[in-house]
Amino acid sequence: MEIGVIGTGYVGLVTGAVFADLGNDVICADIDEDKVERLNRGEVPIYETGLDEMIHRNVEGGRLTFTIDVHRLVRESELIFICVGTPPKDDGETDLSYVERAAQAIAHAIDDYKVIVNKSTVPVGTGALVSDIIDRHKRKSVRFDVVSNPEFLREGSAIQDTLAPDRIVIGAPNKTVAMRLLELYAPLERPMLITDVPSAEIIKYASNAFLAMKISFINAVANVCEQAEANVDDVAKGMGYDTRIGRGFLYPGLGFGGSCFPKDVESFVHKSGELGYDFKLLKEVLSVNRERAPHLLGIIRKSMGSLEGKVLGVLGLAFKDNTDDMRDAKSVEVIRALLEEGAKVKAYDPVAMDNARSILNGVEFCPSAYAAAEGADALVVVTEWREFRQLNLVRLKELMARPLIFDGRNIYDVERTKRLGFEYHCMGKA
Ligand code: UDX
Repeated sequence: MEIGVIGTGYVGLVTGAVFADLGNDVICADIDEDKVERLNRGEVPIYETGLDEMIHRNVEGGRLTFTIDVHRLVRESELIFICVGTPPKDDGETDLSYVERAAQAIAHAIDDYKVIVNKSTVPVGTGALVSDIIDRHKRKSVRFDVVSNPEFLREGSAIQDTLAPDRIVIGAPNKTVAMRLLELYAPLERPMLITDVPSAEIIKYASNAFLAMKISFINAVANVCEQAEANVDDVAKGMGYDTRIGRGFLYPGLGFGGSCFPKDVESFVHKSGELGYDFKLLKEVLSVNRERAPHLLGIIRKSMGSLEGKVLGVLGLAFKDNTDDMRDAKSVEVIRALLEEGAKVKAYDPVAMDNARSILNGVEFCPSAYAAAEGADALVVVTEWREFRQLNLVRLKELMARPLIFDGRNIYDVERTKRLGFEYHCMGKA
C-alpha cells in the first residue's frame, strides 16, 4: 500500500519503519527540515532498540523516504497517518494545534479519495474535528474518511510492541474503510477490534489511565506496607497471581513519568470534566503519583539529616529503563530537590546523559555507576535499568564513603544488601 505518515516523533518513526518493513511504500513528513535531512542521511534522532537498523534497511530498499513536502505525501498516499505530538496545556487539556495543522495541510492537498488515520493520542471527538477541518478547508470536492487507530507502543520496546501488539484497535465510520485497515495489519496476525471512532479514541485513554491507576494503587499499598512492616513486593506478587488482576504494572517505586501516562491521565480527566463527569478516581491517581518523589526525599532526609555538603550518587536519569527520554522523568524532581538542599550530585545513566545535560544544571555526570558511587555518602536509585541490578555491590560498597542506598525502584534484595553491610531503604518495605 502507499502510506503517508505525518510527524516523525516516536510514534511516526516507528509506525513508518514497521509499515515499510512489511513491504509498503512509506513517505514520512515532518516540518523540521533539519530532522528530515538527517533522517534521509540515515541518522535516527531517538534511541530505540532495533529502530536504526529497520530505518536503514527500508531507506536502502527504497520503501521509506522522508520529506518536508506534505502535499506530495498526501497526493501519493492512499492511507495518511497523523502521528504528530499532542502536548499538554497548563490545565491538562490536550493541545491539538499540531493535529489541526496536519488536517489543514491534508485539506489543502487532497485531490482524490483518502483515508486519514489518527494515530496520535487524542481526546474523544478529535476524529470529528479532523473531519470538520478537512471539509472546511479542502480545495477540491473529494470524499475522505477519518479513522482512529490508537498506538499502544512503549518506549524501549516500541518495535516489538508495534509488530506484536496485544490488540489493534480500528475505529472506523464504515465497514469498507475498516477493511482497508484490516488488510494493512493482516500480516501481523494479531487480535483486531473494529469499533466506532469515539470508542477507539476512548480505548486509548482508558487503557493508559487504567495502567497508571495500577501503578498508583500499588504505590498507595506500598505506603501502608511501610507502616505495617509488610513487604509490598510480596503483596504485589500475591495479588498478581490472580489472573483477574495480572502481574504487570504493579511495580512500586517513584511512580510513572514519561511522555504519556502523566499527560494522558490529565487529558482524560480534563475531557471527562468537559463532558460533565468529574473523574475523581483519576485525580487521585495523579495525586498519589505526585507524592512519590517527595516521599523518597522524606526517607532520605530522615536517614541523613541535613544534606548540605553531602555527596549523593544518582543511578538513572531517564523516565524508565531502555530509553534516553527525559520527559517527566522523576530524576529531575529528585535531583533538583537534592541540589536545593545543598547536596553534591554525581549522576549516571546508560543512555540518557546527553539529554539530561540540557535539563539539569550543577550535576556531575559520571561515566559509570561505579564512578557515581565513588566517595558518595549515599546512592539513590531512580531508574530501573537492568545494568543497575547487575552491579557488583561489594565493589560499590568499597567505593562509597558510606554504605547507604535509597532504592526508588526496589531493584535490590533487602536481605542481601543487609548481609553485605549496607543500610538499605526502599519503597513499601519496613
Ligand atoms: C505507556 C504505555 O505503556 C503505552 O501503551 C502507551 O502507548 C504510551 O505510554 P511508556 O510511557 O513508554 O508507555 O512506558 P511504560 O513502560 O508504560 O512506563 C510508564 C511509567 O510507569 C515509567 O515511568 C515506569 O517507570 C512506570 N512504571 C511502570 C512503574 O512505576 N511501575 C510499573 O509497574 C510499570
